[in-house]
Amino acid sequence: MPLETPSFLITTAIDYVNGQPHLGHAYEKILADVIARYKRLSGRRVFFLTGVDEHGQKVQQSAQKEGVAPQQFCDRVQADFRALADSVGIGYDRWVRTTDPHHKAVVRSFLQQLYDKGEIYLQEYEGFYSVRQEQFVTEKDKVDGEWPEIFGEVVPFKEPNYYFRLSRYQEWLKQYVLDHEEFILPAFRRRDVLNALEQPLPDLCISRPRARLEWGIPLPFDEQYVTYVWFDALVNYVSFARGTDANGQPFDYWPADVHVIGKDILVPPHGVYWPIMLHALGLPLPRTLLVHGWWLNSGAKMSKSKGNVVDPKAYISAFGADTFRFFVTREMVIGQDADFSDQRFVDLYNSELRNQLGNLVNRVVSMINRYREGVVPVYDTATVGVQEVPLRNNEAVDGWRAALDNYQVSTALQEAWKLVQAGNLYIEETQPFKLAKDPAAAGRVDLILAHLAETVRRITVLISPVLPGTAAAIRTQLNLADVPYAVEDALFGKSLALHKIGEPSILFQPIEIVDGVPQIVEVKKKVKA
Ligand code: MSP
Repeated sequence: MPLETPSFLITTAIDYVNGQPHLGHAYEKILADVIARYKRLSGRRVFFLTGVDEHGQKVQQSAQKEGVAPQQFCDRVQADFRALADSVGIGYDRWVRTTDPHHKAVVRSFLQQLYDKGEIYLQEYEGFYSVRQEQFVTEKDKVDGEWPEIFGEVVPFKEPNYYFRLSRYQEWLKQYVLDHEEFILPAFRRRDVLNALEQPLPDLCISRPRARLEWGIPLPFDEQYVTYVWFDALVNYVSFARGTDANGQPFDYWPADVHVIGKDILVPPHGVYWPIMLHALGLPLPRTLLVHGWWLNSGAKMSKSKGNVVDPKAYISAFGADTFRFFVTREMVIGQDADFSDQRFVDLYNSELRNQLGNLVNRVVSMINRYREGVVPVYDTATVGVQEVPLRNNEAVDGWRAALDNYQVSTALQEAWKLVQAGNLYIEETQPFKLAKDPAAAGRVDLILAHLAETVRRITVLISPVLPGTAAAIRTQLNLADVPYAVEDALFGKSLALHKIGEPSILFQPIEIVDGVPQIVEVKKKVKA
């Protein structure tokens, strides 16, 4: 690809390693991967970051519980997150770990720069501290004048700490958000940030004394403290976007085009701390924070204590990465919450993947094999009249592109499915399987089959960001493995003329819920009469 190709930096939140990866983590990485694949398809030089957030109190505690060193604990758990990302086809360029020495050096250099500029100051905090939660609490946290049970013992507390002057930039940030519509998507989420900026913004405590927390990055100007985990984690977006490649060439992809995050970490970290940190450092801001909603399990919040956390591994190993990618991206509308249920999973799979997409491909590949010995026919435009063909469906392609340009992945899939549905409808309406018996209709059959082949080819392009494995499998059936993925086709229906295709094979076996568990049911092959 030529060097001048514009680059596209996309990132996900980095996951805490104190638990196991779940549906919410997997979804976010898939969403980002779909966008990354679409941008690559559109010719952008994509740089994609995802990974894990390894420092902080919770990780230190989890490691202690297991009686292992925090680094050892992180090494083990991060491997589970990475294995999940790999198993579901996340094509990241760098796997982020905040214990990486290069990252630590960048965090320290940012802190030093801010300290030198007078953006960071030392102050004694006087207030209350929850021993159980290991956090500062204020009078505002009281419920009916009492400390809530979850805080355990609350004691008066005095501690000097370092603070970052967020308050200085409150007005600037407000104006920035107002002036940049694309900064927070979907648009209704901007309100969350603007509301937070209605209240006076307190400065941010960015240090933790080492006496209380060892597992962090020491402050460069006072080694008695480590860095607050959010200040450390956010910096990953810059520290991993810059570096030296395998050939020793320096690269710098910053600023990000899009940070994909969940709604719980918009305010304050990504919507307030991060833009202010960057601005104070004199660095450009990311173009967009793309904020997705939460996955619920059959209407309930997923939590370890309820034991209802959806483990993506089981679905991926039973039904394949593509099926899982399809379900989550089709089901969740960006910004809204979505519900995971086995019934919905099975229904969407059987209707859209198996009955609609699977059937279309199977019918088209089978008919071309049966009626034209596997060769896509040439048709005569003058005699059969190309205008009647409903499959000249550029609308779906335009709709798909517009949706993906706005990161509306579910809508993009629905647009792609318009083409799938149009293909099936065309077969119903024109009945090529009947026409094939009539020698006088040979020209018409040529036209129909050529247009169907072309439609399936286009569909492979439209589904490829979400269903890369399926797109490739269909292309194998069409014998198009080496043909570039491009939707454009100057002469619709003719690009495959005289192309020899491959053999049909079933793409999606039916799934049923048996004894409460979704599973593949083998179809008995029909014996031909
Ligand atoms: N480590 C921080 C992020 C630092 S980014 C510089 C963190 N980690 S997390 O593991 O708690 O969450 C990681 C991402 O997963 C967040 O974007 C969060 O919104 C997302 N999800 C966690 N649970 C989720 C659901 N149930 N549903 C959808 N996504 C959710 O926060």
